[in-house]
Amino acid sequence: MIISNPKGTQDFLPLQSGQKHLVETRFRETVGLYGFSEIVTPTFEHTELFLRSTGLTTDIITKQIYQFIDKGGRDITLRPEGTPGIVRAVLQYNLKLPVRMFYIGPMFRYERPQKGRYREFYQLGVEAVGEIGPDIDVEIIEIGSRFFTGLGLKDVITKVNSVGCAVCRPKHRTELGLFLERNKAKICDDCKGRAERNPMRIFDCKEATCQELYINAPKIVDYLCFDCQQHFQSVLNELVERKIPFELNKMMVRGLDYYTRTAFEFVSSSSELGAQDSLGGGGRYDNLVEDFGGPKTPAIGFALGLERIMLALGTPRPIRKAVYIIPLDPSIQKQGKELLRLLRNANIPALLNNPDKNLRAGLGIADNLACEYVIIIGSEEVKKQIYTVKNLVKRTQKQVPQNQIIEVLTNKENQS
Ligand code: HAM
Repeated sequence: MIISNPKGTQDFLPLQSGQKHLVETRFRETVGLYGFSEIVTPTFEHTELFLRSTGLTTDIITKQIYQFIDKGGRDITLRPEGTPGIVRAVLQYNLKLPVRMFYIGPMFRYERPQKGRYREFYQLGVEAVGEIGPDIDVEIIEIGSRFFTGLGLKDVITKVNSVGCAVCRPKHRTELGLFLERNKAKICDDCKGRAERNPMRIFDCKEATCQELYINAPKIVDYLCFDCQQHFQSVLNELVERKIPFELNKMMVRGLDYYTRTAFEFVSSSSELGAQDSLGGGGRYDNLVEDFGGPKTPAIGFALGLERIMLALGTPRPIRKAVYIIPLDPSIQKQGKELLRLLRNANIPALLNNPDKNLRAGLGIADNLACEYVIIIGSEEVKKQIYTVKNLVKRTQKQVPQNQIIEVLTNKENQS
């Protein structure tokens, strides 16, 4: 029996890998415009790191972490998200602040797999540590908008909210607690648990009856302290000033414990995504550096889900770029090899047909390999030093003198 990949993991076959690479390249280009540099941290960390940051009451920690004791007796967790490892690195290496970093890599969560939700998935993220805002809050949201627009994803809405701070939360928590107590009979069992552990998390509930009820529940944004209110108002004003489209969503609270003040999510209405419509999200985490034992340091970031972005982009079309050389006779293989070397030296991707494959088979292979051109060399062609160049995309062909092949292939305007 053929062994298949584990549940919740994905293979990126060559076609998808091309699209993955393109998305990553666009991401690097976009964040580069805002001065972000790459950071690479390990895919596993000490479990304690996530317990102290992602949050003890979150689904990620209570249900989804890949945790194990390694052969040396260490308690290890495959990272479910990138932020904690990066904050650790900032402190461990005493990085000069402010610092703007981006990352691309796999994350692991033991979730119920479905379209757009996997156990191993890739995130593209940014973290800006040491900037108090509100300008950086807006820059970060702008990066997301610019990136999605650049990819041609038009149906992405940016939902923005403020989740306050330790000063404003207690009053809201009390009011929300009273609301939930009054409506105890109407809320689902999961929300009863949330009400005890971390009431604000009820807004994440997907049950329609709960969602309807919570429209009238007290929202944190209406309980902000003076400083948080000022901060949030400046963020909203600047978003308008920079003409960044957004939607104020008072029920969006995010699923991780470390958030403070500005929180946001990029949501797609693409029919390809269904329930997993969040392409990414982030927010401020002004207490995390301190919680890890560092000095009080403001910070903000986001992470985007690579697979969901690829789903929203749709099935990729193969990018045809290589040249496939078919010598029509084994005696001409030498000329084929020479042309192969010539093309590769000119930075043109090229492949040579195997002598045991005839023209028909060779053309089939060229098509399978998504080549752009086929160059056919017969003994007459060798004599005349004129080769047949077939364009597989335009389905045309012409005779090209041997010494003009590179020019014709690189100057595509003139190529029929
Ligand atoms: P998050 O909302 O947990 O935030 O994840 C961010 C994005 O990762 C989601 O919006 C989604 O696109 C993608 N994602 C999450 N889980 C899965 C999954 N099981 N399968 C496929 N894609 C998934 C964070 O991770 C924070 N660290 C973001 C952040 C950075 N906040 C501040 N800085």
